[in-house]
Amino acid sequence: MQRVGLVGTEDVVAGYRNLGRASRRSILHALSHAPDWDWDGKRVLDFGCGSGRVMRHMGAEAERAEAYLGCDIDATSVEWVNNNLTPFRAFDNEHAPPLKLEDGSIDFAYALSVFTHLTDHSYDWLLELHRVLADGGYLLATFLGPGMSDQVAKEKWSAAKFGQTFVGYARPWDPGPDVIHSAWWIREHWGRAFEIVRLRPWGFGIRPEPRKPTGHGWVLMRKIPGPYTVDEIAAPSDDPYELPAALHANERYLAEIAELRHELEAMRASVSWRATGPLRKAQEIRANRRAQGDDA
Ligand SMILES: C[S@@+](CC[C@H](N)C(=O)[O-])C[C@H]1O[C@@H](n2cnc3c(N)ncnc32)[C@H](O)[C@@H]1O
Repeated sequence: MQRVGLVGTEDVVAGYRNLGRASRRSILHALSHAPDWDWDGKRVLDFGCGSGRVMRHMGAEAERAEAYLGCDIDATSVEWVNNNLTPFRAFDNEHAPPLKLEDGSIDFAYALSVFTHLTDHSYDWLLELHRVLADGGYLLATFLGPGMSDQVAKEKWSAAKFGQTFVGYARPWDPGPDVIHSAWWIREHWGRAFEIVRLRPWGFGIRPEPRKPTGHGWVLMRKIPGPYTVDEIAAPSDDPYELPAALHANERYLAEIAELRHELEAMRASVSWRATGPLRKAQEIRANRRAQGDDA
């Protein structure tokens, strides 16, 4: 439970269950915008399923589907899902693609709170999900947008400041770095390989308040057939925000590098004191004893 989110609420188990249930409602709501969608005979993938916080509530849908799979880099969570959550099957994957799945073998994939943490391999994973989706298959992904920048980036939201921006790039998992996305950026970049069916900048897994940005954004997309490369998806767009957002991301990275340098210097100083401290102490004691005429 801890691995899939900071469940530091008073009642950890209730918090975990409620968020899982609310995420199910949001998935069903998102799919209501896909007019031809139904679950019968479909193959579904929960990418980054963790311990099945969301899958565990999808029993009715799994009964109608042909297969309901999950995958995650965390082998312990995957094992737990396989031992405890029937009829779901999970498998593990590496930090970079591929998934152990055939081309075009999935009709609907969703990634909840996963692209919110992917940095180096983000484009590779987007294209890997594109590969495993059947032509016309759907991908639902949540992202950190206007409802999350205060909390995650400690900055007021501005679409001109955020495109795809990594926060805490060097932070180890738990839950690793965060990635902020703007709606314009998703449309411009992910929208090259997917038709954007519906995008909402906030409100996933919560009851959204009108005009009050809260929680994760979400985007339901439909695969546009054809091979795409990372370079094609990543190439800068003509959007007027592209340049200011890139410059702002750069400023933030430089500040993070400076902070890391500072931490490194502090570590160096403490290591060098630990290495030479005892010797210096011994020399000091010896000098004192000599001064007192004791040279033993
Ligand atoms: C914040 S949790 C969300 C879990 C689940 N989707 C949910 O909403 O409850 C992010 C999950 O993504 C997984 N993850 C991170 N990088 C991944 C990758 N490259 N491939 C698959 N899973 C990944 C983590 O291990 C973790 O279980």
